[in-house]
Amino acid sequence: MSGSRPRVWLPRPLFGDISGRLDEYFDVVRTSPAGDEYSSAEVADHLRGADGALVTLVERIGANEIANAPNLRAVANVAVGYDNLDIRALGERGIVATNTPDVLTETTADLGFALLMAAARRITEAERWLRAGQWTKWSFDTLLGCDLHGSTLGILGMGRIGQGIARRAAGFGMRTLYHNRNRLPETVEAEAKARYVGFDDLLARADHLVLVLPYSPQTHHVIDAAALAKMKPTATLVNIARGGLVDEPALADALAGGRLAAAGLDVYEGEPAVRPELLALRNVVLTPHIGSASLATRRAMVALAVDNLIAALGFGPDAGRPPNAITTQR
Ligand code: GLV
Repeated sequence: MSGSRPRVWLPRPLFGDISGRLDEYFDVVRTSPAGDEYSSAEVADHLRGADGALVTLVERIGANEIANAPNLRAVANVAVGYDNLDIRALGERGIVATNTPDVLTETTADLGFALLMAAARRITEAERWLRAGQWTKWSFDTLLGCDLHGSTLGILGMGRIGQGIARRAAGFGMRTLYHNRNRLPETVEAEAKARYVGFDDLLARADHLVLVLPYSPQTHHVIDAAALAKMKPTATLVNIARGGLVDEPALADALAGGRLAAAGLDVYEGEPAVRPELLALRNVVLTPHIGSASLATRRAMVALAVDNLIAALGFGPDAGRPPNAITTQR
């Protein structure tokens, strides 16, 4: 191996048959975290001699982690969300950051819909009840849930995944309302069969509300006690975006107090820890951040991140023009 080739840090094994393509261009330093995740100091240490890195959403990279990484030019995130990266700090240093949109849109929208159906129709609660041997006789009013068909779906955050959820909702005969930082062009609204409403209106009118917006300091706890109080007590809340969007103790209170019917959560504020208040509730469906976790999609995400990193470091057919740059090189 030539010592003059750029050095790339791969902090965990990611489909070796795909990430192995990095070896064609780079000296790849492959490591695995000693515990479940790297500490900030460990990330800084691994970035010190690196020109690039291919990271997942549990590697957090900001000013502290890049302070002693003078060669670092590119960080490819294997996720569409990039709240694990301090884009401003990277941008100020001229480090290109990339993400993996599009390839995970449909898979994540599928999971959002699965959580919505499971929560509204009490699927996991019903299964737990059956497995616990409580089904001793059939009865007419056992585990009554809430319909999806004919109901009003609210989508908070109408990007690619939000639109994917809206397309599915149309097939279920739901009316879709959405709220977004910017209203979408009419043609996109017509395609998604979705109508723009204000935030409070969305909360008040949704029978089911799905959160698909990016997490940032501006959207921190966008669903707090006040927002929950504006929702219908019969409503379902689904979060497939980031845990920090929801004030979890307030959500647990609302679910326990009958002020919200059910919730489906794939993401948590302190994940992988899940609050005991949520674990104790019967009317919440909990999955471990698996929105994009189909084999085909996870492989496509790694392939895209590899393309991004190769291009961002000046190689391959898109040299200098990574397909999914979040920041631009100065
Ligand atoms: C997963 O959460 C992602 O952002 O891709």
